[in-house]
Amino acid sequence: MAIFKKNLTSKILSGEAIKVLNSSDQKEKKILEIGCGDGNITQFLIDNQLGNNQFYCSDISEEATDSAKKNIVYDKINIKAGAFFDPWKNFHQSFDLVITDVSSISEPVADKSDWYNGVTSDCGENGLKNVKIILDDVNFFLNKDGYFILPVISLCRLDELYELLKKKFNFVSYSEKVEWPLPEFFKKNIHKFDHLIKKKIISVEYKFGAYLAFTKVAICHKHNNQ
Ligand SMILES: C[S@@+](CC[C@H](N)C(=O)[O-])C[C@H]1O[C@@H](n2cnc3c(N)ncnc32)[C@H](O)[C@@H]1O
Repeated sequence: MAIFKKNLTSKILSGEAIKVLNSSDQKEKKILEIGCGDGNITQFLIDNQLGNNQFYCSDISEEATDSAKKNIVYDKINIKAGAFFDPWKNFHQSFDLVITDVSSISEPVADKSDWYNGVTSDCGENGLKNVKIILDDVNFFLNKDGYFILPVISLCRLDELYELLKKKFNFVSYSEKVEWPLPEFFKKNIHKFDHLIKKKIISVEYKFGAYLAFTKVAICHKHNNQ
């Protein structure tokens, strides 16, 4: 197996998550990251937090959580291996902030890329299989007034994702989108992706000889009565 390498999405997600974490009062908060990989996002939050919060991380890969345990230097951290919310089912507490970075791009694209070599992706053709499972449970694990943060990568079915988030949360805002060029594998295999583009299962733009995708972050706020 292997551990996912920190990428542009990790950085964008870190930047948005720290804004949310530091924007409210500095009472101790509980922050959970699902799909933590080597722990780089949580380590960033720990290094840049204004308060002294309690962090929780999990990943389906034990190799990833072992590496996160080595990398994260902090006393208030709890790291477990397991899928989705499974490691926290008997936790009997809820979280103020849940960040998910579990794989969420169209499977045929993930398969042809080298981003997921040895890393679980399994997100279905429209990229939303994992997000849907997480959305089914997220409100149970969030405190009232809690936040749920996830990346929106244009290599998934965007209109369906926007609808799903709108149904679950009264307040959803999005960060600015950051465009990025898809690596050579995408152009090489374009015959395999053409139908995904036509059916709007993925959204890319062809500009100056390259295919561009984008990443932004959805910030979902749980309303008191949700
Ligand atoms: C896109 S990577 C992000 C890793 C890390 N957050 C980073 O930025 O480097 C997705 C991570 O989700 C994990 N993952 C995949 N399916 C999962 C699941 N069902 N439950 C928990 N983690 C999962 C993978 O092992 C991988 O580490």
